[in-house]
Amino acid sequence: MLPLSLYVHYPFCMRKCPYCDFNSYKKDSFDIKDENYLNALLRDFDSLKDLVLDRPFVSIYFGGGTPSLFSPSLMGKLLDYVSSHISSDTEISMEANPGTVSLKSLCEYRSVGINRLSLGVQSFNDNHLKRLGRIHNAKDAKEACENALKAHFDNLNIDIMHGLPMQSSDEALSDLKIACDIGCSHLSWYELTIEEDTAFGEHPPKLPNEDVLADIESLGFEFLKDRGFNRYEVSGFYKGKKCLHNLNYWYFYDYAGIGAGAHSKFFNEGKTLRRANVADPKDFTCGIKSEIFSVDKEDIPFEFMLNRLRVFNKISKKEFQNTTGLNFSVVEKRLLKAVNMGLLKMDDESYVLTSLGKTMLNDVLELFLD
Ligand SMILES: C[S@@+](CC[C@H](N)C(=O)[O-])C[C@H]1O[C@@H](n2cnc3c(N)ncnc32)[C@H](O)[C@@H]1O
Ligand code: SF4
Repeated sequence: MLPLSLYVHYPFCMRKCPYCDFNSYKKDSFDIKDENYLNALLRDFDSLKDLVLDRPFVSIYFGGGTPSLFSPSLMGKLLDYVSSHISSDTEISMEANPGTVSLKSLCEYRSVGINRLSLGVQSFNDNHLKRLGRIHNAKDAKEACENALKAHFDNLNIDIMHGLPMQSSDEALSDLKIACDIGCSHLSWYELTIEEDTAFGEHPPKLPNEDVLADIESLGFEFLKDRGFNRYEVSGFYKGKKCLHNLNYWYFYDYAGIGAGAHSKFFNEGKTLRRANVADPKDFTCGIKSEIFSVDKEDIPFEFMLNRLRVFNKISKKEFQNTTGLNFSVVEKRLLKAVNMGLLKMDDESYVLTSLGKTMLNDVLELFLD
């Protein structure tokens, strides 16, 4: 059996940020009590029990939305419910918006078993935070990071976005510098993407030009390397611990996803199974169920590569067969094409992206689409 993770989706936020296309909603536009949402989560977990069985969790991840609006005691109840799957090695993360936490609440989350925190800082610059429609300012963001460390979240991730409207490369670097100085052990550094069906999608802001974006990226990579942060995937940098939960997705291992819009994936009896929950929190809380389906064999090579190539280490040829049940010959020709294009290196045992391949990942993935 493949390693297994649990994802718990909490879909509510104080308000909707203009760039965000996650399955998240303004909390007070719903009349759903958190206790009722918790009960729906527990029922949802039970509905997967034939696939989860007595398997241990590598990681549990409370994502959103803004899980830091869900009380520590309700989060603790969920953790108690799944406690037979938790060991002392289980990474238990939650995402938190800096505008919703205090030293007291962070200590409470820590004491119910959360051992990794991911703070959605986005920027330490007040002007950018305002343009991004964030509910917190730079001072709140710094305070939240400091409180997280005081509450003994030594496994601390900070989310920073770059390529923001009107952002200079100096400003982007300054955000990274502050995050490093604070002492986080992991950084997720995302380039802002303008998504359809968001406020920014409808009224696109003016973004920095291509030259500035390229400068931000190369200076940022260099800066983080100098500060001891290793880039181990497209947007992830670690100085201490990698994120086990994200690695579990990217290795194409198994995950049970519970909550509104959550996705699950299991490799069971030679088949890759998926489930996508109903996105609407009301429908989910009312108990509308989603069916588990088997993924077409033709779609699996692309799905595997889409995830696995995000991580930049060597991939053994055996790994494809062990995680998908399909023979390596199914992908070999297309990998050789990538080798001929200078995007991949391959020997008898394994293959790995070249430096060019890392910057042209979409071109590699396209080979697996036909
Ligand atoms: C679910 S949110 C994290 C927690 C919390 N909701 C918050 O915003 O503070 C996940 C992260 O994805 C990133 N993100 C969201 N929308 C994005 C976009 N359009 N472009 C780039 N990064 C984005 C942000 O850095 C965000 O913190
Ligand atoms: S707080 Fe996070 S999940 Fe909620 S709308 Fe903003 S970016 Fe999206």
